[in-house]
Amino acid sequence: MNSHALTAEDQTGFSPGELQTQIQDALPSLEKARQSGAPLRNFESVDAAIAELKPTEPVFCISPAKLREAAASFQSFPGRPLYAVKCNPHPYVLETLYRAGITDFDVASLDEVRLIDGMFGKAAGQFFNNPAKTRPAIRTASERHGIRFYTADCVEEIEKIIDEAAGSDDLVIAVRLATRGAEARYVLSTKFGAQPDEAARMLRFIQQRGIKAGISFHVGSQCLAPGAFANAVEMAGKVAQKADVALSVLNVGGGFPAPYPGDDIAGREQYFGQLVRAMRNVGLPRSCIVLCEPGRSLVATSGTTIVQVVMRRDRNLFINDGVFGTLQELGHPKERRPVRLIRNGIRAPAKNADFKVWGPTCDSNDVLGAPFSLPEDVREGDWIEVGMMGAYSLSMRTHFNGFFADQIVSLGS
Ligand SMILES: Cc1ncc(COP(=O)(O)O)c(C=O)c1O
Repeated sequence: MNSHALTAEDQTGFSPGELQTQIQDALPSLEKARQSGAPLRNFESVDAAIAELKPTEPVFCISPAKLREAAASFQSFPGRPLYAVKCNPHPYVLETLYRAGITDFDVASLDEVRLIDGMFGKAAGQFFNNPAKTRPAIRTASERHGIRFYTADCVEEIEKIIDEAAGSDDLVIAVRLATRGAEARYVLSTKFGAQPDEAARMLRFIQQRGIKAGISFHVGSQCLAPGAFANAVEMAGKVAQKADVALSVLNVGGGFPAPYPGDDIAGREQYFGQLVRAMRNVGLPRSCIVLCEPGRSLVATSGTTIVQVVMRRDRNLFINDGVFGTLQELGHPKERRPVRLIRNGIRAPAKNADFKVWGPTCDSNDVLGAPFSLPEDVREGDWIEVGMMGAYSLSMRTHFNGFFADQIVSLGS
């Protein structure tokens, strides 16, 4: 009998180097991002990146200056701003926001928890605010990563959190309240959120179990009405009063809008002003921690996708990225972004026309909801800079049809 131990190569047919590559490919992308830690290639501008790379694959560019600017706009938030990691979990984005003072994070999965812990350890605060979590995820988040803030929108989830994470008196459970969401592009209360009466019952239930209770809500993403935040805070105040529970946390969620073309958005100070007035009316306890957890408004302006025209057919453009890649949000007919044609050294004609834009996959749904206005003679090989793509872009990419936009660079300093 041959007793020698089988090597990895014997078992798999791959050399150690090849095996490592196979394993890397099989790892979830967040895990890969954490492990890579490689600095991004830096270019002065989009034009400089195109001139040097002449890219035939999409290139996603991240501007640290825009991230710092967005982080600064939350300095006057009347509480503690967290960043919603799901919106763009690239380590460069997280690192830049952290250095700009955003040191707390809203995490939705164990993979995000590990990512933040791996990058910042205990120096970062983590809030596990997905209202539906597995028991192992709660247990690991609590035992291994020390997370003490959780969100739920039903008694079953509250019981789960208590079973898996109770044990010290610093546990806080926030009850997610449903909001109308009518003023937002993306309503986030059809899946999660309790009605006021149920929420009051849950607050009492949490308090009776000797645990600190709070309220959270999300007014919907890209919320164009600052008053929506005030209405939700007032509703939270009524729920707390009805339950006769002193809130330990009030989390006003994300939803602050990005300045996309065509969206008439109010300044951040109007949103914060509405929140301050509403919180005063409600009379929160002095010890209540006020949180917000923006995603889009912190990262949208920092991202640009450079795409190339693969084919033109009449007024249809077929480009190398689409709704299964970083342009996922542009499937929505109301989503507009600034676009600019870039062609090597040739001045494009001033006259623009509207083009229907299709992504690279074979799926008929791989089409943008709104046309791009581009110079009439746009043609194969031209590049298009699609701006304000920092939110829900890198995190929504798929490998569908074998396309995966994975060339990422930084822009400026
Ligand atoms: C619980 C929670 N918090 C925060 C956010 C971030 O929202 P936004 O990107 O609209 O700021 C989301 C988005 O889905 C969310 O579900």
